[in-house]
Amino acid sequence: MTSSIDSALGLVADWSGEALVSHHDRETRTWMFVGIHSTRLGPACGGTRLRVYSSPTEAVRDVLRLAEGMTLKCAAAGLPTGGGKAVLAVPAMPTGADRRALLLRYGRLIDTLRGTYRTGPDMNTSAVDMDVLGEVTPYAFGRSPGNGGSGSSAPDTARGVWHGIRASCAHALGSPDLAGRTVLVQGAGGVGSVLVGLLARDGAKVLVADLAAERVRELERRYGVVPVEPDDVPGTVCDVYAPCATGAVLSAATIPALRCPVVAGAANNQLAEPEDAERLRAAGILYAPDFVINSGGALHLIGTEMLGWDAATLSARVAGIGATLTEIYHHADEWGTTTEEAAETIARARLGSATA
Ligand code: PHE
Repeated sequence: MTSSIDSALGLVADWSGEALVSHHDRETRTWMFVGIHSTRLGPACGGTRLRVYSSPTEAVRDVLRLAEGMTLKCAAAGLPTGGGKAVLAVPAMPTGADRRALLLRYGRLIDTLRGTYRTGPDMNTSAVDMDVLGEVTPYAFGRSPGNGGSGSSAPDTARGVWHGIRASCAHALGSPDLAGRTVLVQGAGGVGSVLVGLLARDGAKVLVADLAAERVRELERRYGVVPVEPDDVPGTVCDVYAPCATGAVLSAATIPALRCPVVAGAANNQLAEPEDAERLRAAGILYAPDFVINSGGALHLIGTEMLGWDAATLSARVAGIGATLTEIYHHADEWGTTTEEAAETIARARLGSATA
């Protein structure tokens, strides 16, 4: 026990964030961790992830990394918010009355932070869960529309990725036009399936891979997409590879197999390790940094619910993801760095130049 506490505290000691709020829920033996990475630009915003971890230390590792990612995401998106994230490290996925009771206790914890941290849906949490949090705290974005929320952020995330794909094609291939281009969408969930519709509308040839074959068949019926076996994704020839499922899909193992000039998709944490950004660059593949191209969801939730944006403002800001990527690509070329490094440099400059 002592050594695991030491290793978790060691992670906090090496972290660049402001605070880690920790609470142990005795009733369910759930660790609640809220990582407040930065409040420099505004309240720390980021979703709540519900997961079974192999140990509390792994949950701490995840929340610290994810909270820092949100700081970069909000800064790059030009939002007046900082970065945070929460994980509920449960012994088993809670359901029914137990889930509700746990969320109410978690909501009260969030409420004690008085808005320093504001949450929303993330892995394994949805609008229904945000509705429960909303019973005890005003600091939950993404409640269902009937409960005062702004509805699913998935369509705006997909629209942001679509703008990002166009900007990436313009830079790497000379034109943003997607007619006749081949785009491989990995993951046909809430974001991926909307993206497929946008690409099909443009006349792109869309390839889709998903572990759930039924989802692929449905898109095949609706849009005539071409199914790809999940294992075949890395070797598939295409113009754009759009990872929209799990993270860590770009690695020392997969990058040499890629047969595409552009990687631009919605998944979080696409790089398995930092060196993968350089591996992509060396392979001549243009990579759209994930925390920039997938910021449409954050723009939707924070813009609509905290900043009072109307639909036109939101849509213009989501379109701005394309312009931000173009700027990042130019800087990366000019500075001779990876696109990931250029994006982080731009985000950190916004953080550094903020008036406290
Ligand atoms: N979890 C999502 C993200 O990481 C959405 C979210 C954004 C939730 C901002 C809360 C606040 O982008």
